[in-house]
Amino acid sequence: MAFIEIEHLEKTYTSKSGDTEALKDVNFTIEKGEIFGVIGLSGAGKSTLVRCVNLLEKPSAGRVVIDGEDMLSLSERELRLKRRDIGMIFQHFNLLMQRTVLDNVCFPMEIAGMKKKEARVKALEYLEQVELADKAKAYPAQLSGGQKQRVAIARVLASRPRVLLCDEATSALDPQTTQSILQLLKHINEKYQITMIVITHEMRVVQQICDHVAVLEYGRIVESGRTKEVFDDPKTEAAKRLIYTHEYTELESEGSGI
Ligand SMILES: Nc1ncnc2c1ncn2[C@@H]1O[C@H](COP(=O)(O)OP(=O)(O)OP(=O)(O)O)[C@@H](O)[C@H]1O
Ligand SMILES: [Mg+2]
Repeated sequence: MAFIEIEHLEKTYTSKSGDTEALKDVNFTIEKGEIFGVIGLSGAGKSTLVRCVNLLEKPSAGRVVIDGEDMLSLSERELRLKRRDIGMIFQHFNLLMQRTVLDNVCFPMEIAGMKKKEARVKALEYLEQVELADKAKAYPAQLSGGQKQRVAIARVLASRPRVLLCDEATSALDPQTTQSILQLLKHINEKYQITMIVITHEMRVVQQICDHVAVLEYGRIVESGRTKEVFDDPKTEAAKRLIYTHEYTELESEGSGI
């Protein structure tokens, strides 16, 4: 049995201006310890998909099974506990600006009822993992974007997740900083055996760290497979557009320095 199983997932947003079918019959599986990429144009449903995985958004239909547990069958209380297994990092870091770096990382452990002193010791260990122990006393406003994302990663590690959802985690960063964050994600994926879903507009990110990739278009997965296979030989228009446009842009930017 796969570690994450998504079956016939549907999500329709209902509002006064009409219904939006954000996800339509989405199916995929992810093995334990794998990094799974999701690509697609803006509005394709990528964020909706990850929010349905941790049930921040309630699916309209279908099943979300994580480690054999049907997420939709859990009570509110069970779900709150289960959610601790699922971490999330975003483009805009979502740090607590009034708290120091150390206190940001302590936060999830305090919420979980850990003693303050113990939480501080653990937080420093996680800050070392992300190479930011020297910034423990700084405030988020005093950090660069890459450093803020490292704090967010340390904080998510503090909740000991088994699954990590990354929604555009490197989109606000320059290419070099993106590289270092990707290496860090790969490192924690291997060290802690965390299964990851990575959503990104950056094809390079997918090529570098994702084992498998799914292409989402208008709420449907139109193509999926091993990253190398999909990138070497994209079959659908949607995949070709994403992959070839990216290559063209890369060539352009490489050429622009001449
Ligand atoms: N809370 C909401 N209420 C109503 N419609 C929504 C809501 N959230 C998303 N949608 C709609 O669902 C569709 C998918 O949105 P989603 O945010 O999942 O796209 P995305 O692929 O993450 O896009 P982006 O790359 O721009 O982040 C869009 O048409 C969007 O307008
Ligand atoms: Mg999104």
